[in-house]
Amino acid sequence: MEGHTRGRITKDGIRIYEDADFAGMRAAGMVAARILDEVGPLVVPGVTTGALDDFVRARVESAGATSATIGYKGYRHATCISVNHVVCHGIPGPKVLKDGDILNIDVTVIVDGWYGDSSRMYAAGTPNRKAARLVEVTHDALMKGIEAVRPGATFGDIGAAIQTHVEAQRMSVVRDFCGHGLGRVFHAPPNVLHYGRPGTGPVLEEGMFFTIEPMVNLGRPETKVLADDWTAVTRDKSLSAQFEHSVGVTAQGCEIFTLSPAGLFRPDWL
Ligand code: MF3
Ligand code: CO
Ligand code: CO
Repeated sequence: MEGHTRGRITKDGIRIYEDADFAGMRAAGMVAARILDEVGPLVVPGVTTGALDDFVRARVESAGATSATIGYKGYRHATCISVNHVVCHGIPGPKVLKDGDILNIDVTVIVDGWYGDSSRMYAAGTPNRKAARLVEVTHDALMKGIEAVRPGATFGDIGAAIQTHVEAQRMSVVRDFCGHGLGRVFHAPPNVLHYGRPGTGPVLEEGMFFTIEPMVNLGRPETKVLADDWTAVTRDKSLSAQFEHSVGVTAQGCEIFTLSPAGLFRPDWL
């Protein structure tokens, strides 16, 4: 049967990978996760986001991996670092973190041709209760989305699980950005929406690889992209949070490729 499924693309344009390909994704995901573990202690008031990016870039190199983001559509950094009301694609640079800031660090590496894409929330110093609650709800929303992953479920089931959890807390799901298929490429079909209705969208099959990466706002869901053409912010300037895992659909459910080796994915200050 191996020859039959090799390289198959579903009618929705989604590649079905082989059993052996899980090992490649596991290795790439582990490198991304380890680097996200290692950068944590550097996130303190007074550090610049550029210094955090420099550290990540060096760790990607010393792991023998390649940054997927440097050179991607003209992007020049090893991370996206999105602070407070920045929703995603924040550009690291001279910005100095202050006590109470919350931030997402997003890293994508290539290991032996396989892409590992993950992001987490961190805090400089002590976040206030509303910020901590946003981070907790966003983390839990991602995990509820992941719990919906199994053969026969639909992408709408994933989105609905996330949206239901977030809106029950009177927070909002960003519509303008989504998760994506990945594997030997960075971004592939399908668009993984973080909202939706159960039973809608493409049907999940064993061997699909994709990210789930919900962005959640304390206020309204609308975003805008700044003049740098990358930085997406909440229109109402409310706080935003995001977590991202790369996963593969297994016979039983799913494998998370980007689990933290040190168990640090969920921030310890929550
Ligand atoms: N890692 C991001 C994602 O989750 C993509 C970043 S693309 C960049 O899909 F160019 F902004 F780095
Ligand atoms: Co992604
Ligand atoms: Co990412």
